[in-house]
Amino acid sequence: MNEIERRRTFAIVSHPDAGKTTLTEKFLLFGGQIQVAGAVKNNKIRKTATSDWMEIEKQRGISVTTSVMEFDYKDYKVNILDTPGHQDFAEDTFRTLTAVDSVIIVIDGAKGVETQTRKLMNVCRMRQTPVIVFVNKMDREGRDPFDLLDEIEQELQIKVRPLSWPINQGIHFKGVYNIYEDSLNLFTADKQKITEKITVDIHSRELEEKVGEQDAGKLRDDLELISEVYPAFELSSYRSAEVAPVFFGSALNNFGVKELLDCFVQIAPPPQDITAEERTVKVTENKFSGFIFKITANIDPNHRSCIAFCKVCSGRFQRNTPYYHVRLGKSMRFSSPTQFMAQRKSTIDEAYPGDIVGLPDNEIFKIGDTLTEGELLHYKGLPSFSPEMFKYIENADPMKAKQLSKGIEQLMNEGVAQLFVNQFNNRRIIGTVGQLQFEVIQYRLENEYNAKCRWEPANLYKACWIESDDNAELEEFKKRKFQYMAKDREGRDVFLADSGYVLQMAQQDFKHIKFHFTSEF
Ligand code: G4P
Repeated sequence: MNEIERRRTFAIVSHPDAGKTTLTEKFLLFGGQIQVAGAVKNNKIRKTATSDWMEIEKQRGISVTTSVMEFDYKDYKVNILDTPGHQDFAEDTFRTLTAVDSVIIVIDGAKGVETQTRKLMNVCRMRQTPVIVFVNKMDREGRDPFDLLDEIEQELQIKVRPLSWPINQGIHFKGVYNIYEDSLNLFTADKQKITEKITVDIHSRELEEKVGEQDAGKLRDDLELISEVYPAFELSSYRSAEVAPVFFGSALNNFGVKELLDCFVQIAPPPQDITAEERTVKVTENKFSGFIFKITANIDPNHRSCIAFCKVCSGRFQRNTPYYHVRLGKSMRFSSPTQFMAQRKSTIDEAYPGDIVGLPDNEIFKIGDTLTEGELLHYKGLPSFSPEMFKYIENADPMKAKQLSKGIEQLMNEGVAQLFVNQFNNRRIIGTVGQLQFEVIQYRLENEYNAKCRWEPANLYKACWIESDDNAELEEFKKRKFQYMAKDREGRDVFLADSGYVLQMAQQDFKHIKFHFTSEF
């Protein structure tokens, strides 16, 4: 119980460039995992270098070890799950969100809520994941904090409650008042290290001495207004995902980060019970269960090996103990499960709910696979969303057809993209959320499978999973649209609409058919 209670498993997410990496790094500094900032900076795929393959390979290598960052902070064990910085890998991020108990969303104070933030929040809402918002870059001239709170509330459709408050912003930004603890700590700005703090009593003249007459007066007024406008913070409404506490600061200058981290470990939920298809599994159950939410290929091109990331949901995971792989119906034991510490990884003997264990994967895992002590459990993952881009994948080297098929299958198992097979001509269609994914697939097929592929345009708009109670109508639809019918990897019927208009007409003409834009309904 102690081990479960002290764990905090979460992800930091943001629209690219809002400051996720910088904040993560500052957390690691506080956790004592790194001594100087800049160490995990290269973790993301640079937004500009879209075709710099060496760079991508290097990044991918780094991301294996930094996919999970664990550290002890005070009495807590913090597990940060990293998510890719590039938007084209958004699906990866969505899947990682299935393995966390809470989320910190970083927003750029000057830009406010951006597209990716909105999408990420939708996924959190679907799963009722508790969310804390960190408004970053307060050292830049930005918007009024009250306006930002309104925007967050409207755009992210969640009530907010500020738990820290900025003293001025832009070049006059002096730090943040900690509303949660009712205290003011002033730090000297330092981008690299944690600096000494001084504690100020805001009801005394000391405040004026430290921040000046004007800012002292404004801070007291702002705090009064906050307590009038926003109801007092309640832990239960945060944990039930109704209210998002908001913190302000500057990750780069290390302002407001400690306030966020200290409060986060106290209020964020420990690992929660999880609903499997069969039943709800209590986190406190004795028997081990877990699921695979991410698979990452290794960097060594001569030796294709993957790491499957397993989230422990219940019980205690132990090294060299036989566990049941539910999909394969097979028992297997793992002699070298790994744990991740900032930039190192080490073999572990045991792990508790909330922990992420890295399992060497020799093509045995698919995303969503469940491991148990024998029970037939299936954890419900996140549904696949309709891709945004589609291309036919063709074999460019007739001698390597087998390698290509194997490569495609395994990359799809890793969840790199979605595969549909057109039922009319048997052609394979790959669906992605961004162009970069196509490039990565082609590159990896060549480098890891010795297979060559060619892309051909597929003018498609959306993939819809279809179902109906009216079998005759469903069959009629499939007959009429046979050129556009495909199967997904689970063998489900998918209608590939080539335009919004066609889809709208289909919805009108076939009233009993439901068109779903996600694979689980
Ligand atoms: P991301 O992971 O969300 O994509 O963002 P990242 O942390 O990489 O930050 C994006 C840019 O914003 C970086 O600048 C970073 O230094 C800057 N940044 C982060 N936090 C703050 C902050 O509190 N204030 C200010 N003013 N800037 C901040 P860059 O030029 O892209 O990278 P670099 O050359 O500084 O490393």
